Amino acid sequence: MMRVTLFGASGLLGQDLVQELKTEQLTALSSKDADLRDHSRVREVIRDSRPDWVVLSAAYTDVDGCELNRNLAFAVNFEGAVNVAEAAREAGSRLMFLSTDYVFDGSKGSPYQTSDARKPTSVYGESKACAEERLIEILPEVCIVRTSWLFGHGGKCFPATILKLASTRPEISVVNDQRGSPTFTRDLASVLVQLCRASARGIVHVTNAGDCTWYEFATEIVRESGMAAVVKPVTTAEFPRPARRPAYSVLSAASLHAYNVRMPEWRDALRRYLGSAQGAR
Ligand SMILES: NC(=O)c1ccc[n+]([C@@H]2O[C@H](COP(=O)([O-])OP(=O)(O)OC[C@H]3O[C@@H](n4cnc5c(N)ncnc54)[C@H](OP(=O)(O)O)[C@@H]3O)[C@@H](O)[C@H]2O)c1
Repeated sequence: MMRVTLFGASGLLGQDLVQELKTEQLTALSSKDADLRDHSRVREVIRDSRPDWVVLSAAYTDVDGCELNRNLAFAVNFEGAVNVAEAAREAGSRLMFLSTDYVFDGSKGSPYQTSDARKPTSVYGESKACAEERLIEILPEVCIVRTSWLFGHGGKCFPATILKLASTRPEISVVNDQRGSPTFTRDLASVLVQLCRASARGIVHVTNAGDCTWYEFATEIVRESGMAAVVKPVTTAEFPRPARRPAYSVLSAASLHAYNVRMPEWRDALRRYLGSAQGAR
């Protein structure tokens, strides 16, 4: 049995991690249990739980919110992560840190490898990129898992929003010039636990296989759920947001395949999400 201390247990991914880890010895924490910014509290919970692995899924994830509140973004996503890493080092625990495709600027045009240089275009991406760099210094054995475009049953997500809009509007406009890989939190949670068991280290890219634009994703959601709404492709320029997102942020799966682990295709994941969307987790 593994001893795991999970920060971010109440989040979209965190809730599936709690399910996935229910047969392990788990300490599951939300911000109310331990705020990442509170160094002594973070130290205390890690010292008391003495985990084999600390999984840091907690973050300030509102990408536009981060853009408008740089101090908070860095306090949680950078300084908070450093607090966790220092406490993990003190306790002799391994650390798994959840990071993002938004550490890249999206100009590459082919899948990003783990060795590609970070070049974030948003405060959120920058706070995560800085955390990655610092965590590697504090804990050279850290496992950094970059993922993207999460959807799941544990909270607000893109498919849930599209389903709601499609049930109330005849037409929905969705951007068609940002390409990435949607990722089902249930699939991701399962792989994260496999990576802990495999004692993974370094940077690993974990997303569902395949890629699409947000427009293509929305079209598939509406089609699969048999709704009548028309999805209209638009450009990012037509829908300006505070934070700049990468136009292309597909992550190569080579680093995951090195552990002999494969993620299902995103369409398959979407079908399973839609099939289980009615209440049950
Ligand atoms: N969502 C995506 O599309 C996406 C894409 C790439 C990478 N990621 C990364 O994947 C991870 C999981 O994302 P998610 O979508 O599951 O996040 P989420 O649903 O926004 O959940 C965030 C979690 O972090 C906790 N949290 C926030 N501020 C905190 C603080 N100051 N101290 C302690 N805990 C705090 C929240 O606790 P409360 O519930 O108590 O507030 C919650 O449990 C994050 O690290 C994120 O950056 C996400």
